[in-house]
Amino acid sequence: MVELGVNIDHVATVRQARRGVEPDPVWAAVEALLGGADGITFHLREDRRHMQDRDIERLKEVVPGPLNFELAAVDSIVDFACAIKPAMAMLVPERREEVTTEGGLDVAGQKTRMREVVAKFAASGIRASAFIDAEARQIDAARECGFEVCEIHTGPYAHAFNRLHDETLPEVARELERVAEAGRLIQSAGMQFNAGHGLNYRNVGPIAALPGVSELHIGHSIVSRAIFDGMREAVREMKRLIEQASRAIDPQHSPQRDEGHKGNTKK
Ligand code: PXP
Repeated sequence: MVELGVNIDHVATVRQARRGVEPDPVWAAVEALLGGADGITFHLREDRRHMQDRDIERLKEVVPGPLNFELAAVDSIVDFACAIKPAMAMLVPERREEVTTEGGLDVAGQKTRMREVVAKFAASGIRASAFIDAEARQIDAARECGFEVCEIHTGPYAHAFNRLHDETLPEVARELERVAEAGRLIQSAGMQFNAGHGLNYRNVGPIAALPGVSELHIGHSIVSRAIFDGMREAVREMKRLIEQASRAIDPQHSPQRDEGHKGNTKK
């Protein structure tokens, strides 16, 4: 079954608007797990605009589920991640002026640095994931650098879907096919295929139905829904949609889907 990592940064963003103590992202993480999340994702940015170091220490102390630590390849944050020992470290690009992560990491353009950071994570027993655009050269570079996981940036698909609301329209189908093709390349290179960014209750289905997709990381839409429905219910509904979509092509875990998971080292 496709797993859901809930990104809780957006809860910390609301708290930081007042620089107070509420809403607490650690509480949100526990609620998300109670709603059926398979893991918790967060991004410690260099400018500390949402998550704070102490939040992450508390997550590690309190949260009884896998943590996916998103970060830029900056020494101080890499060292902090190694000390925290999350299940997975996901390298992303970071620019101070951006509202959110805007594009995939250029692994191909900085292989020496990427190899260094992946080796540091490996020495701490942490699996490394690269957040990349759906491009063959980035997937090849990720494999060469020793990443075990690639998360494909679904933003272009999500934007096309949100504009047109129909995955069969050529523009949306083209973006979906780019993610699907990237997923095939990732799996044939022996890496785990994850996806995320911009996914919501309307556009998640076609991505959750892609053969071999392992984990989806979703934040903004779940936290937005949680304002009205509560975190547990918001997560429960997203899990329901993901399970429905993955079952639609795979009623009984067909060999095709299991084949897709062959390269995984996850379990
Ligand atoms: N994956 C990555 C690499 C991200 O940077 C983000 C946003 O922090 C997400 C997934 C989740 O994106 P969204 O908040 O749009 O669901």
